[in-house]
Amino acid sequence: MIPVFKPHMNKKKILPELEKILDSGWIGLGPKTKEFEDKFAAYLKAPHAVAVNSCTSALHLAVLAAGLKEGDEVLVPTMTFVSTALVLLYEKIIPVFVDSDPKTLCMDPEDARRKLTPKTRAMIPVHFGGHAADLTSLQALAREHQLILIEDCAHATGGTYHGQKLGTFGDFSCFSFHAVKNLPTADGGMVLAKTAKADAQLRKLRWLGIDKDTWARNDNKYAWRYSIEELGYKYHMNDITAVIGLAQLETLDEDNQRRAKLAARYQRELTGLSSIECPVEIPPAVSAWHNYVIKVENETQRNDLGSYLGNEGISTGVHYEPIHRHKVFQGRARMENLPVAEHQWTRLLTLPLFPTLSDQEHDQVISGIKTFLRKTTTLAV
Ligand SMILES: Cc1ncc(COP(=O)(O)O)c(C=O)c1O
Repeated sequence: MIPVFKPHMNKKKILPELEKILDSGWIGLGPKTKEFEDKFAAYLKAPHAVAVNSCTSALHLAVLAAGLKEGDEVLVPTMTFVSTALVLLYEKIIPVFVDSDPKTLCMDPEDARRKLTPKTRAMIPVHFGGHAADLTSLQALAREHQLILIEDCAHATGGTYHGQKLGTFGDFSCFSFHAVKNLPTADGGMVLAKTAKADAQLRKLRWLGIDKDTWARNDNKYAWRYSIEELGYKYHMNDITAVIGLAQLETLDEDNQRRAKLAARYQRELTGLSSIECPVEIPPAVSAWHNYVIKVENETQRNDLGSYLGNEGISTGVHYEPIHRHKVFQGRARMENLPVAEHQWTRLLTLPLFPTLSDQEHDQVISGIKTFLRKTTTLAV
């Protein structure tokens, strides 16, 4: 079966580094985590980066460090993974779901503007599929209404906007190193802040609120002494994950180039086939191509194509069923007027895209789609 996603692990580099770290006697939060933070920040040209155990944790900490409180409203896209909005519920903050741009499937800035109220304090745009949200409009909206901008970069490690790395635009930004993301470590995340003060707060919050982490204490004469002044969480990264992250960072650009090449080939082969709409890459965005989501005619065709490809040994997915539809948000979020997302998601199908997808497997997917269309439509091909 050809999967939809598959992590590419830089085993040559990872295995010897893992051996070293396992022998070192220090596998928790330590110097390798710091090295990964520094190298990741340098890669993005960002001032601060704090390593955590997932993007969900990163989002939760960003919300806390941003000072958002119970009853505040936060604009979030509905076309995303649940974490983007779920972390708001942890703090009894109200997610206000925003509709999608029909082309990029990112948050629609005009709909965001329509949904502002005096209680709106922040927005969390997602760079859907690795393609930048409309940052020019969203930054303008944030400036105009003093909103905190938190970028959800779970899909977007390595993507750019106006030549600048995604994750360097917001007051905070959050990355995922989950198994199928562009820089996979199995699980992991990074939260970026603009100021040293926010960076220090994030470091404390990721480690139960303790004022010194174990690594810092290891260096200290009074290693046993620490204080806890505010409620924190056990969200830190460990050095085993960090050595994997460091190795994966070395192949990130190469992996993203392979993703882009495969995406361009899909584009060439599928553009013009009746009823298929390919994902777009609109300048000044350069996508990180986390996924490849096509739009077909309607829900029936989407489901039939998915089943047909499944029978041919090709996995597909749907990213996403709009998350406001999940029961957990009922009574806890605002979710009015989301016509684009409600319509578009029924047409979405995610095709296999990952760095180690071979040309032959890629051909198999493309010819599977063409054969399906030939069999089921008269206009196609
Ligand atoms: C847009 C988005 N945000 C957040 C997350 C959460 O990431 P993690 O699994 O690292 O917590 C994901 C994961 O799929 C995601 O796709």
